[in-house]
Amino acid sequence: MTSETLFSPAEFGAIAAKNRVVMAPMTRNRAGAGNVPTDLTVAYYAQRASAGLIITEATQIVPEGQGYPTTPGIHSPEQIAAWRKVTDAVHAKGGKIALQLWFTGRISHSVYQPGGKQTVSASAIRPAGHVYLPDWSKVEFETPRALETDEIPAIARAYGQATSNAKEAGFDGVEIHAANGYLIDQFLRDGSNKRTDRYGGSIDNRVRFLVEVTEQVTAAWGSGDGVGVRLSPHNPYNDMSDSDPEALFVHAAASLKRFGLAFVHVIEPVGTELQLAGKIKAAVGAPLIINGDFGFDKAGEAVASGLADAVAFGKVFISNPDLVARFASGAELTPPDPASFFGGSEKGYTDYPVLAESVAAE
Ligand SMILES: Cc1cc2nc3c(=O)[nH]c(=O)nc-3n(C[C@H](O)[C@H](O)[C@H](O)COP(=O)(O)O)c2cc1C
Repeated sequence: MTSETLFSPAEFGAIAAKNRVVMAPMTRNRAGAGNVPTDLTVAYYAQRASAGLIITEATQIVPEGQGYPTTPGIHSPEQIAAWRKVTDAVHAKGGKIALQLWFTGRISHSVYQPGGKQTVSASAIRPAGHVYLPDWSKVEFETPRALETDEIPAIARAYGQATSNAKEAGFDGVEIHAANGYLIDQFLRDGSNKRTDRYGGSIDNRVRFLVEVTEQVTAAWGSGDGVGVRLSPHNPYNDMSDSDPEALFVHAAASLKRFGLAFVHVIEPVGTELQLAGKIKAAVGAPLIINGDFGFDKAGEAVASGLADAVAFGKVFISNPDLVARFASGAELTPPDPASFFGGSEKGYTDYPVLAESVAAE
């Protein structure tokens, strides 16, 4: 046991968080023309600045990284300028914010690829499921092309460039999205990686792309102290599977130890049978943010027990911009409205109520 609670300050590398209530990364599909964040997005994140740390929605590092309608990027000057407004607004309210770096790989469609080119992945395996086109119609995924061995380092370097862009935009850090079946996860897990070169086969080889990305990202940031990595060892989302998640993810974590990361962020829902988060934390030697259907009580237990350093909350942070104050006062939580999660305007985005100031003060 420790004496820490969700309200104790924490340090994620150089990021000093005022509490341990983290806002989980959440795609909201509300970018404007050119996949540029809008002023509504500035307001949305500013409303949630009482989190110890906000992790933004997944943000494509290059145009090729996109796989959903109107998701923001961090590759154009307009995007960088717009994100600067977001970080300024969050900082003005005393918050901290990290950008999630994203490349969807096979969870894209040729319609999103410059020149209508084929999507790419670790291997030419079509995932089961559907992709949303820019007009929100749904079609089956396409079969991706396996990246050539000599194409892979340039993608790792693109993560580095995006990190420099995020730094220029004023972020406190970046999170490498290695979870949920996107490109890095497609290399990690053996259900989607059947390569026979140095990026496939053994666990060490499957972890190589993540390590090379982390090398580029930490070099661009200047060190690991503003860099986190998100992993989802058990998540089957996006048609993912692995024959031995424990061996894979503990090895991945150990391979990242030398970077001195600011945090590792593990999706391991409450009640998950095989508990890997603690082993991952020990192997990586960095603070652990845990996530997955946590409520206030379970989150408090995870922090008090010393398992996790912080807990990330997703859906309840959509519908409770003042989640920290609600936790502190024991107030009721507003339930989220899934119909307005993806796309649309201010409805279900910036119009959720906050507690009256007097109630919050009690
Ligand atoms: C609307 C929505 C969008 C999401 N988008 C992302 C994303 O962009 N990146 C990511 O890593 N996870 C994403 N997730 C997963 C969440 O970060 C989180 O892991 C999940 O919601 C479980 O946490 P919760 O039970 O506290 O909501 C998304 C979840 C939701 C509900």
